[in-house]
Amino acid sequence: MSAASNPELERLLADLEADRAADAALPFTRLAADYFARSAAPDRPVTTRAAPEALAALVTPPPEEGGPLPDVVARLAALVDNSIWLSHPRYMGHQMAGPNPAAVWTEPVIGALNQSLAIQEMSPAVTAVEHRLVHWLAERIGLPPGAGGTFTSGGTEANFTALLAARAAALPDAWTEGLVRDRLPVILCGQHVHYAVTRAAAQLGLGTRRAIPVPATPEFRLDTGALRQRLEELARRGTPVMAVVATAGSTATGSYDDLQEIGALCDEHGVWFHVDGAHGMTAAFSARRQSLVAGAERARSVVWDAHKTMLMPLSLGLVLTRSEHDLEAAFTQDAPYIFHAGSGRRWDQGPRSFQCSRRADPLKLWVALERYGSRAIGLLFDHLCDLTAELYGRLREHPRFEPLHRPDCNILCFRYVPPDPADPAAIDELNRQLRQAYNGEGTGWITTTMLHGMRVLRVTVMNPRTRTEHLDDLIAELERTADRLRFR
Ligand SMILES: Cc1ncc(COP(=O)(O)O)c(C=O)c1O
Repeated sequence: MSAASNPELERLLADLEADRAADAALPFTRLAADYFARSAAPDRPVTTRAAPEALAALVTPPPEEGGPLPDVVARLAALVDNSIWLSHPRYMGHQMAGPNPAAVWTEPVIGALNQSLAIQEMSPAVTAVEHRLVHWLAERIGLPPGAGGTFTSGGTEANFTALLAARAAALPDAWTEGLVRDRLPVILCGQHVHYAVTRAAAQLGLGTRRAIPVPATPEFRLDTGALRQRLEELARRGTPVMAVVATAGSTATGSYDDLQEIGALCDEHGVWFHVDGAHGMTAAFSARRQSLVAGAERARSVVWDAHKTMLMPLSLGLVLTRSEHDLEAAFTQDAPYIFHAGSGRRWDQGPRSFQCSRRADPLKLWVALERYGSRAIGLLFDHLCDLTAELYGRLREHPRFEPLHRPDCNILCFRYVPPDPADPAAIDELNRQLRQAYNGEGTGWITTTMLHGMRVLRVTVMNPRTRTEHLDDLIAELERTADRLRFR
């Protein structure tokens, strides 16, 4: 039946056309701008107090017949209200950014264009943007001119991709033949590595057991002395090492491993050197903290999430390899219906990526750079790190708080220590309850982890709106809440 003879379809096509107009888009943009404005209000709770069941009840089954756009936007506003507000200056929780607005306003353009970065002909201009940004970022950390990379959905995909490339180098037949059980290689990684790395070991068919943790120093960095010993031991036993994984900004404490030293050890032993800089590679843009990532230029592969400390909205990760061919070797696929580029420069990124259809996400980084300039990346990173250093100073002076480490970047772990003696289990439980009660109040939001076997409080400063007065609020409110819990 043609559209002309089907009034319902005719109406739907007319609605689709009307919804393409700026008037239809405006209420969505207003809702987002209003969210930004309201999340700066000091008395605004950081997160919803509604229980998961109540939130599930908010989401009614989808209607068969749609409704007017203003009604839909009004219901969307209720979901916004019941979200966790990362743009609130007292949100200091997980490593999600209070995103930079120019990148946010690019999202509708990315959606409208709906380019796929699988192959150049499906995204002519944005493929050029991806290539430019990949090579510019590789150059920034000192990788050689032949380096390559792709943007990814995040650090998990990026780490998997890098280690897949390492597997292709160590076991070139694994792609076609699968893994042969005897003499499988191992991966050496720091004790505090992100689970994306051990997960990748399992996904690559090595098994998590073959991701061998190397002990950490008391400052939560990979102990390079222990790494040297491990490498020598494995060489003596004839166990092949597929990769050594260093972390540049660990998840729990933001600690940076010594990339120079680890890179040198990898060179000495002829081992693939991988750097998981998902959180902290942005230090490469900082005038004062660049030395934290010195040695990244020795890496065979590097992960770097723009959606973390570059403050991009989700999602935008990145994997870089020392040679573009490392990625092509990782994904050896014959698919003539899509990969049919001729000779010459290989622009298609699909053969270098885990994904087929890929969002044009690099566009938002390009817009942010055009708007704020590349110097802004380092300035904002330093702003977040400086605030975290201020918090460290304040906590160190405070009789009731004990920082667990001096922060390298924008992550800090500490704990509340009660004035009256208590056994370690009671202090752990008090800290657990403290985080829960503080977050429940809604004045701020922090996370927690275990360090040295102890329950600790954890802060990541990911929002450029956070100022020193918000750090004071955090300390005062945590102390008040702890007193309330103790005297309950
Ligand atoms: C060091 C590190 N690597 C990898 C990841 C995983 O990144 P994503 O959440 O973008 O997949 C994280 C996430 O927190 C991380 O901190």
